[in-house]
Amino acid sequence: MESKLTKSGMMSVTYEGRTSEFPVFEGTHGPRVVDIRAFHKETGLFTFDPGFTSTGSCESHITFIDGDEGILLYRGVPIDDLAEKSNFIEVAYLLLHGELPTSTELHDFNHAITMHTMVHEQLKNFYSGFRRDAHPMAIMVGVVGALSAFYHDSTDINDPKQRVIATHRMIAKMPTIAAMAYKYSIGQPFVFPSNELDYTSNFMRMCFAVPAEEFKCNPVLCDALDKIFILHMDHEQNASTSTVRLAGSSGANPFACIAAGIASLWGPAHGGANEAALNMLEEIGTVDRIPEYIARAKDKDDPFRLMGFGHRVYKNYDPRAKVMQKACHEVLGAMGIKNDPLLEVAMELEKIALEDEYFIEKKLYPNIDFYSGITLKALGFPTDMFTVLFALARTVGWIAQWSEMIEDPTQKIGRPRQVYTGAANRPYVPIVQR
Ligand code: SDX
Repeated sequence: MESKLTKSGMMSVTYEGRTSEFPVFEGTHGPRVVDIRAFHKETGLFTFDPGFTSTGSCESHITFIDGDEGILLYRGVPIDDLAEKSNFIEVAYLLLHGELPTSTELHDFNHAITMHTMVHEQLKNFYSGFRRDAHPMAIMVGVVGALSAFYHDSTDINDPKQRVIATHRMIAKMPTIAAMAYKYSIGQPFVFPSNELDYTSNFMRMCFAVPAEEFKCNPVLCDALDKIFILHMDHEQNASTSTVRLAGSSGANPFACIAAGIASLWGPAHGGANEAALNMLEEIGTVDRIPEYIARAKDKDDPFRLMGFGHRVYKNYDPRAKVMQKACHEVLGAMGIKNDPLLEVAMELEKIALEDEYFIEKKLYPNIDFYSGITLKALGFPTDMFTVLFALARTVGWIAQWSEMIEDPTQKIGRPRQVYTGAANRPYVPIVQR
């Protein structure tokens, strides 16, 4: 990966009479950065930024978010364009390779992914070790983490050919593993992938087909899910992507890194929010109870937060939420669901929140997770599968970011420092004296 930073000046920092200079760089879009790699050497100080609210961890060419304008670009292409005009496999190629594919490139990439959709027969044994009511995200963390035990021929991260095979395997097998987790939870037999179907239809069939009859994927539903996958594929250095990069920076194999990303995504503040948002809408139940929950969300002493609202970067509407809301209406329409009570609560909750001083002042808008739960439920997925679908799609972003990190010549093992405020240096005290 070749750096495209351009130097745009210097920043002086004066402390205790000593002035140090640090270079300032500019990227393609977004705020300039001050390069503080020499900060400790020059000043003897550490910077301090828990949660990395002002800290860039890397240079990346993959995704850009403008939180104030509500813009999201994958390799420079706006997310709404891609959601409307493209499809999962083409966007996966774009994220991995940096350019939209020619028809030949797309055909070859699609074939490469298709040829890796099956999993080793022994992998099935992992599922029977889980209880049927195990959360599918727990299964995903376990089974994906175990992949490195099966694919030793693609774990050498220094071999570009093995990185490509691992990338294809990861993207291709996630739907199969996810569908198997769902089938296992409902006591139905696993369904093999079909090479005749596109990526998303294949996944829908592996989830909803039964041996007793032919499965036909409703094109409106498959198209909506394909769109939902595109919206979830990448999002700069979010918590789970940063987890994948940090795990990968030690040289861990890609399967282990993706398993770490799945574990991080599961948190309700992150990818687990789609499941939490639907549970919240069900708990609110009816429009007349919305004020009670808005009050709780504003109450400092109440840990309750409006799930599906707020974002570290977006201080305007999450562009994905707009596309998601449209997909939600399309799916409900295709399913013949009129006046869905959850949608009614969601739309009224959104309306009230967006007019409320607290949410306006804190710039809290619906994020991608606010409408995704209603849509995924209407598509037939149980609530505990929502984050699994997020992980399925985000695997493309995780593996693209992991590859970029491996190919970055400036990459080093990630090892943050700290400020220590524990007990001062003191001698051991024998137990008889305590
Ligand atoms: C995703 O990073 C990514 O890009 C993530 C993601 C991706 O694609 O990878 O976009 C996917 O994770 C989307 C976010 C899903 N999470 C939720 O919907 C959970 C609810 N949202 C919050 O937990 C929160 O908004 C976060 C975690 C998303 C963002 O938290 P921040 O940036 O650390 O902001 P904060 O917690 O400091 O909140 C700022 C203020 C606080 O009030 P004060 O302490 O300043 O008085 O806003 C309040 C918060 O209390 N606040 C909320 C709120 N979110 C923030 N109050 C009520 N309800 C909320 N949802």
